[in-house]
Amino acid sequence: MPPRLRATTAARLIALLVCLSPALLAPCRGVNEQGQALLRWKGPARGALDSSWLAADATPCRWQGVGCDARGNVVSLSIKSVDLGGTLPAGPELRPLSSSLKTLVLSGTNLTGAIPKELGNLAELTTLDLSKNQLSGAIPPELCRAAG
Ligand SMILES: *[C@@H]1O[C@H](CO)[C@@H](O)[C@H](O)[C@H]1NC(C)=O
Repeated sequence: MPPRLRATTAARLIALLVCLSPALLAPCRGVNEQGQALLRWKGPARGALDSSWLAADATPCRWQGVGCDARGNVVSLSIKSVDLGGTLPAGPELRPLSSSLKTLVLSGTNLTGAIPKELGNLAELTTLDLSKNQLSGAIPPELCRAAG
């Protein structure tokens, strides 16, 4: 085998091993499931978060407003006085976060629309602050489950 060919074969093999190694899998695959859920909610419209909410990160833990526990699960989303616009995250978007999210603070972020009853599915939620927005409609009774 010519040496050059052998070198590229070795490089390919190393690249393959890097992608197969669980510890290094994240850079090949992009952000984890909770991060993907947050990105789906953010959508292309919320440009105010673009500089730190990077799909290439392994976890969303260093994104603006995101807090994680020691195992890298998202426990808080806390954004205040940033012009996000749009609506609140609804049920399906937040399902991947429901086992860990304890704090949801989106205060003064120019959110509109109704408060989705699916927020009640966030089983661990203890703190919810949606003040200073243009939300409409009633507070869904499902949210009392989260508080209780
Ligand atoms: C919310 O929207 C209004 C009107 O577009 C704007 O004046 C205000 O600065 C926005 N709020 C924030 C926190 O950027």
